[in-house]
Amino acid sequence: MALLSGFQVKIKTTMKKNIFSILLASAVILPFGLLAQTAVKSKTKTEQKPVTAVLSAKSSASIESAFTGSGEDWFIEAGKAVFPALPYSYEALEPVIDKSTVEIHYDRHHRGYFNNFMKAVAGTDLEKMSFYQIFGNMTDFPAGIRNNAGGFYNHVLYWSIMSADGGGKPSGKLLDAITRTFGSYDAFYQQFNDAAKTRFGSGWAWLSIDFKTDELFITSTANQDNPLMNTEGKRGFPILGIDVWEHAYYLKYQNKRADYVENFWNKLNWQEVQTRYNDYFRLADRLNK
Ligand SMILES: [Fe+2]
Repeated sequence: MALLSGFQVKIKTTMKKNIFSILLASAVILPFGLLAQTAVKSKTKTEQKPVTAVLSAKSSASIESAFTGSGEDWFIEAGKAVFPALPYSYEALEPVIDKSTVEIHYDRHHRGYFNNFMKAVAGTDLEKMSFYQIFGNMTDFPAGIRNNAGGFYNHVLYWSIMSADGGGKPSGKLLDAITRTFGSYDAFYQQFNDAAKTRFGSGWAWLSIDFKTDELFITSTANQDNPLMNTEGKRGFPILGIDVWEHAYYLKYQNKRADYVENFWNKLNWQEVQTRYNDYFRLADRLNK
C-alpha cells in the first residue's frame, strides 16, 4: 500500500501549506458544517491523478446533510461517509417509480452497498482517502471495493436528482452545453435513452462532464462502475445517472426497461442536475486536470 502512504503524506503536506485555503474553503462549505482542505494540482493535463483533498466533519449530522451527490462529496473521507436520508418519501416518485421499488431499492440495495463498503474500508488506508481518490485509483483495489463504493456513490446521485415534481427541460448554461455538444435537446434525449436502453445486463447510463475538455458526454457503465473510475476509457464527473439494474424497475415494469427509462424523465429534477454542473466548474480547480 505504498501508493496510499504517498497520498497520506501529500495530504499532510497540503494541510500544512494551505491553512489559508482551508479557512477560505470552509467559509464556502460552512452551510454543510465541514472544513475543507485543498488539493495539489497535477503537473500535466493528460494525467488523471486523484486530488489530495479531504473534508473533515464537525459532526456526523453535518456529513449526512453534505452527502447529497454534490461535488463536495468528492472530498469526503471514505471512513467518514454516512448513509444519507432519502430526500423524499418512498411514494414521492409515484407513478413513475412505485413505493415498494423505492423502499427496497433504497433501504436494502443502497444501504447494503454502503454497509459493505464501510466494512471493507474499516481499518484500512482507504478510510482516509476521498471518494475521488478511490475512484481515480480503482484498478488498485479488489472488486468488493469497486462494486460497493460505486453502489453507494451512484445511488446517492440517483436519488438526489429526482423529485416528486420533476420533469421539464434544462435551461441556462446546462441547456447551452447540451445544445453545443449534441446539437439539440431532442438529440441528447435520444442518445441518453439509447445508452440506457441498450446497456447489456446491469449498469447505468450517464451524462458527465469530460475531465479533459469540460464538455458533456454520454456513456453507460456495467455493474456499479461510474465515469469517475479509472477503469473507464473516458472519464468525467457524472451529473445525471439512471440505474438500469432490474431492481430499479422490475416490480412495476417487469422486462420493459424502455418504459422505465422514458418515464424517468418525468421525475428528473433538472435544477439538481444544473447544481452538479455548476459544482464541477466551481470545484474542478481542486482536481488534477
Ligand atoms: Fe440500484
